Amino acid sequence: MLYNEQEIAKRRTFAIISHPDAGKTTITEKLLLFGGAIQQAGEVRARKSSRHATSDWMEMEKQRGISVTSSVMKFSYRDYEVNLLDTPGHNDFSEDTYRTLTAVDSVLMVIDSVKGVESQTKKLLEVCRLRHTPIMTFINKLDREGREPLDLLDDIESTLKIQCAPMTWPIGMGKRFRGTYHLYTKEITFYDPEADHGVGEVVTVKGLDDPRLDELLGSQVDELRNDVELLEGAAHPFDLEEYLAGRQTPVFFGSAINTFGVQQLLDSFVQHAPGPMPRETLTRTVSPFEEAFTGFAFKIQANMDPAHRDRIAFFRICSGKFVRGMKVRHLRLGREVQIANATIFMAQDRTNVDEAYAGDIIGIHNHGTIKIGDTFTQGEDLKYTGIPNFAPEHFRKVRILNPMKSKALEKGLVQLAEEGTTQVFRPLMGADWIVGAVGMLQFDVVMHRLEHEYGVQSVYEPVSYVTARWVTGDKKRLEEFQRKEAMSLYTDGEGNLAYLAGSQWRLDNTMENWKDLVFHATREHS
Ligand code: G4P
Repeated sequence: MLYNEQEIAKRRTFAIISHPDAGKTTITEKLLLFGGAIQQAGEVRARKSSRHATSDWMEMEKQRGISVTSSVMKFSYRDYEVNLLDTPGHNDFSEDTYRTLTAVDSVLMVIDSVKGVESQTKKLLEVCRLRHTPIMTFINKLDREGREPLDLLDDIESTLKIQCAPMTWPIGMGKRFRGTYHLYTKEITFYDPEADHGVGEVVTVKGLDDPRLDELLGSQVDELRNDVELLEGAAHPFDLEEYLAGRQTPVFFGSAINTFGVQQLLDSFVQHAPGPMPRETLTRTVSPFEEAFTGFAFKIQANMDPAHRDRIAFFRICSGKFVRGMKVRHLRLGREVQIANATIFMAQDRTNVDEAYAGDIIGIHNHGTIKIGDTFTQGEDLKYTGIPNFAPEHFRKVRILNPMKSKALEKGLVQLAEEGTTQVFRPLMGADWIVGAVGMLQFDVVMHRLEHEYGVQSVYEPVSYVTARWVTGDKKRLEEFQRKEAMSLYTDGEGNLAYLAGSQWRLDNTMENWKDLVFHATREHS
């Protein structure tokens, strides 16, 4: 293999999905510890933003530093270079999560053994399924009295419609939790909360019939034997191809807070999870091993550094190699730009990057020229696809309190829309902007940022819309549509025509009346 190819093949780029409180932060922290990216537990937790209340969120946001760890964390483990992309815990920022999931090659799903599959996990998994993203599963909190392991697998299989292939199996749980039995290496790993990484003795046995098991596990051995016997009939053996196709998930058990099971998971992850995958563009599929550098921006984050009003575009390299100072073609603007300054994010630090490879996520300093979905290449006309905008479900009218600032309001709203903080709609008739959101907390963020970054004081007024659709179609028919429905028509931040409806009935009715036009519930970033 060429040097570049080796570098690319050792990249592992993934995100963790879970319902809030399942243990995502805890696992992230332990993974970073193994990767040597942090020195002690607690460093990520201390920065975790509160998920539950707006006021807490604002408070945390004021301390801004948090964002640095919250987007991407790179670490090395064994021979691998791992990029871990964080996703916001709060449901209200799910749009951001969906976009992040477009930039990964696989996903780790964390499930709380006490609660089983929860609503947000289900939603996120549906997004992964659309892209056939491979999923590895960690069932967490085995140190608590949780649900029966077989029951949990059944829950995953039936609720999430994905086959489970247990890799390890727990021996007891809660107070009786002794450790795990590895179904393939036949290792018993004893749980010892007092020991380093929660791992006590590790004993390899010849299999479940090995009499040493009786000595080692005493009365709990029968339970393990019974479980595994049942598994042989009910569960699926691990099949790498099925996992890579997104149809089967290997399952590990552990207790993240005690670091127990996390290394087993990480070892298997780097070994089995896919490296950089080929990606679709409007015209062709791009292999990560192509020599020419290409990639796309999937997230824009503002104010990561409180001292500088900066905006960073998070950029997924899809093929080739990035070199500092490189000139790339900015497709949307139709011109060359030089990337003088790109950043790689370690746990708390960011460092200037000299080179990076397909699979890596780099942060590019952005003075308003990069939007979500923008593609950079070394000349070829390519446009990466699959980065969606979702039709908002909540709407507010923005009324400005200092009308002299209406230009600043416009600039602020358009920029915030470009960052994906919210969606904005400008009426074809009238002057009031409408802000559209998928989650209510987005409104608070917009108002806070308008005031603090753009000096615009404004209030929200209720507006009776419940849904939106982007409308495309024949030019003549569109003009007619615009004349007849002008009161309900808007253009979004990028100038696309959108129809806002006050009820589902009204939307259905309009769609019925304009059958030859297309009403889109999602829209690709242009
Ligand atoms: P999240 O990012 O998915 O929201 O979850 P997070 O890691 O913050 O974990 C949620 C809670 O579950 C935390 O408790 C955390 O300590 C606890 N937890 C994580 N892993 C385990 C585990 O293996 N066993 C047990 N028993 N608990 C676990 P908290 O009380 O909300 O926070 P804290 O006071 O511990 O910081």
